[in-house]
Amino acid sequence: MDTFGETHTPAALPVAELHLHIEGTLQPELIFALAERNGIELPYKDIDELRAKYEFTDLQSFLDLYYANMAVLQTEQDFADMTRAYLQRAADAGVRHAEIMMDPQAHVQRGVPLAICVNGVASALATSEQDFGVSTLLIAAFLRDMPEDNAIDVLNQLIAINAPIAGIGLDSAEVGNPPSKFERLFRRAKDAGLHRIAHAGEEGPASYITDSLDLLDVERIDHGIRCMEDEALVQRLVKEQVPLTVCPLSNVRLRAVDTLADHPLPAMLAAGLNVSVNSDDPAYFGGYVDDNFRELVGVHDLSVGERALLAANSVRSAFLDNARKEALLAQIHRWEIASED
Ligand code: HPA
Ligand code: ZN
Repeated sequence: MDTFGETHTPAALPVAELHLHIEGTLQPELIFALAERNGIELPYKDIDELRAKYEFTDLQSFLDLYYANMAVLQTEQDFADMTRAYLQRAADAGVRHAEIMMDPQAHVQRGVPLAICVNGVASALATSEQDFGVSTLLIAAFLRDMPEDNAIDVLNQLIAINAPIAGIGLDSAEVGNPPSKFERLFRRAKDAGLHRIAHAGEEGPASYITDSLDLLDVERIDHGIRCMEDEALVQRLVKEQVPLTVCPLSNVRLRAVDTLADHPLPAMLAAGLNVSVNSDDPAYFGGYVDDNFRELVGVHDLSVGERALLAANSVRSAFLDNARKEALLAQIHRWEIASED
């Protein structure tokens, strides 16, 4: 309550979102709207029937639906509309900077030209700062269940068309597709001056985290929660302050953890790991960054200082220049002072 007796919604915590798949922001309503626009018949009669499928048993059960729903993305406008919808919602969630992954192979494979998907997403990102106050970077993520040669071929095409990508990532089915499969891809990306990140230790073992660092020379690990099974690895990650982009609601929905109460994030924070909170595929996992924070705080009672530290970790771990980082850290500091009770 303020002095006029009115209740204000507290301002959202300013954060950088570092782990976000743009195709995972396709909301059921937009899936139906794009299907209609493109004359595509969906295998669900309505939104409720689609939503009923959002009960996942593991990563693969989610990926099957995630790839199937991409069928509605056909034109540059479709990719731009999806991206703008995310940016609008992310801005409301407190996101001030977003490093956005897209899966080019998933689109090329179903016959959508590379330039269509890249230009569509990039056109929305180009005006994001002025339209939504969100600075952005684009990261091309490669599908680890596809051959490395295909990834290298698509990366070379992205470079040839001057796609505005800042880095590469590695996603999709983790178990059985170890980092060692992609050494040449990551070497090519490094030689091209690109940043490098990889999913590791979501469903796959802790050794995939070590191998991503040692074989792929990645600068951040997406998820990384299974590092907690290897004490020596935790010590290394703390010492090197390797950023781990954790996605709590995703981990619950994909059954990587049983419940939010069992989530290792508080223990990871207490161990001194460089963790941030991210939404992964918000349309599928029940929420955006603000929802992740709200549910975490509800279960784990994170203090204002701990929330500010998670936000500061996200900003410090972004591929941003120091001036922008300092400006965002100052915003977080102001949020912390205003939120202190
Ligand atoms: N894990 C792996 N691959 C993915 C994910 C994820 O959470 N989301 C989209 N592709
Ligand atoms: Zn992810």
